[in-house]
Amino acid sequence: MGSRYLWPWLLVLLGLAPVGAQQKPVNMLCSPDLAWCEALVPAFKQATGLDLRFVRLSSGEALARLRAEAQRPQFDVWFGGTGDPHMIAFREGLTEFYKPRSWNQLRPELRAAVGETYIPLYMGAIGFVVNHQVLERRGLPEPKRWTDLADDRYRRLLAMPDPNTSGTGYTILATLVQLYGEDRAFQLLSRIHRNVAQYTRSGAAPGQLAGRGDVAIAVQFAHDGVKFALEGYPLKVLFPLEGTGYEIGGLSLVKGAPNREGAIRFIEWALTPEVQALAAKVGSFQIPSHTKTPVPPQAPRPANLIRYDFNTFGTPEVRERLLNRFNKEILPLPR
Ligand code: G6P
Repeated sequence: MGSRYLWPWLLVLLGLAPVGAQQKPVNMLCSPDLAWCEALVPAFKQATGLDLRFVRLSSGEALARLRAEAQRPQFDVWFGGTGDPHMIAFREGLTEFYKPRSWNQLRPELRAAVGETYIPLYMGAIGFVVNHQVLERRGLPEPKRWTDLADDRYRRLLAMPDPNTSGTGYTILATLVQLYGEDRAFQLLSRIHRNVAQYTRSGAAPGQLAGRGDVAIAVQFAHDGVKFALEGYPLKVLFPLEGTGYEIGGLSLVKGAPNREGAIRFIEWALTPEVQALAAKVGSFQIPSHTKTPVPPQAPRPANLIRYDFNTFGTPEVRERLLNRFNKEILPLPR
């Protein structure tokens, strides 16, 4: 054995290098804003000495990835993204429910809404993010209701996320179904579709299109709109009068995680108020799940949330059925 093979062992023997499993990096699927994912890496290293690696995928794409890797999981933990796909992943046996030490300090209404399927990480509501300059220039009113989005005057002036890839998009679809019933929701979507200039892959992208003035109205999470407005774009955040849907963003332990121990350390750490507070520092203004994490003053507070049925819309068959209908009945329609 050459000396270059002996060196690492010597370090271990001298107690200078930590051994084996402890040093394995934690692999994270990360679904919120990229800046938040990035901020976790050095903070986790500093707190634990462990490396955190991540891939940013929208919630629907992350679920597809976990399904594809079911026989040989590559990720240890799934951080953030809308809750419905987290619940579906649990029900399909792709994740396991891990009860963190801080469980009883997480907002009780969020815990009650999702049961013991995944860990609530934050909450945020869907809104209309409008470019008031574009509307003014065209002499158009602000949309007040979901049904206004079907108004012919907004032809090609809307952007919203694709519910297949984006958890935000699926939350919007599920919201309309809960407000109007499935058939009427699809009728409304077929009319809204004529106004959609672009369905985006991720949930936050519509607000960027609206911010740049490519469209006038983005349908997405209100807190993403607040972030872009604070960055200087001429955007305003509105809530539809009929009521709006919301997400309970998730945190899940991947079943069969290659580094289960590291994943648990990450989960316990990520739920502490200090770490949750990192989100607002990098522009993510959801309502954090831990009762002791300060709610960022920028977090939008919608008055009329619907009673979102997480149990139903977090069922694999329901999601499959709604996406199939969307793909067959809405997407192929002319625009
Ligand atoms: C944004 C929001 C998050 C949300 C996520 C879902 O990052 O700030 O609150 O969970 O979108 O992403 P997706 O791309 O799946 O819609």
